[in-house]
Amino acid sequence: MSKKLRVAILISGRGSNMVSLVKAARTPDFPAEIVLVISNRPDAAGLCKARDMGIEAIAIDHTDYPSRESFESDLHETISDHNVDLICLAGFMRILTPYFIRQWPNKILNIHPSLLPKYKGLNTHQRALDAGDKIHGCSVHFVNDELDGGEIIKQASIDIKKDDTAETLAQKLIAVEHKLYPEALKNVTIELLSKNEAF
Ligand code: GRF
Repeated sequence: MSKKLRVAILISGRGSNMVSLVKAARTPDFPAEIVLVISNRPDAAGLCKARDMGIEAIAIDHTDYPSRESFESDLHETISDHNVDLICLAGFMRILTPYFIRQWPNKILNIHPSLLPKYKGLNTHQRALDAGDKIHGCSVHFVNDELDGGEIIKQASIDIKKDDTAETLAQKLIAVEHKLYPEALKNVTIELLSKNEAF
């Protein structure tokens, strides 16, 4: 394979999904490469992890900006300067406005720890437990104007056992997320390359 799609990953915290994407992208024949990691929080542990793996990692601190739009304008410019084709949100805890999202139609992916459309937003593990669900899971979806509401790309599920807590579910699910996100990115990339849409 000659041309690989260029991917930026946006994080806010520990970045374990980011690490799994970087590792997957370094396996033979993976059709995308991770060229940039950005965190809106300068203290995000994921920034050091990315640099340790040799990936350019930048903090763009949203608290330095007077408005969401000015923050997103710099975010967009930085990503564009790196000739990025696709953006992966991986624990990125800022809601992006339509101003940003519409500049990247069907080019932003997110991973969410629930079987969407169930449990959009936060505290998904506890909400699944409170509802008495027997199955929980995670979803990779395209990002659109509706929070956690874009088209679902791929999902994976786990059983909820009687003694599970929000913590045990989070622990079990993160391992599943680490497999699902690279698979979803691979599928989307192959699809885009086959349509030649990315260039
Ligand atoms: C993951 O549970 C992901 O589903 C959610 O935020 C968490 C990020 O974890 N969007 P990490 O930073 O990738 O370790």
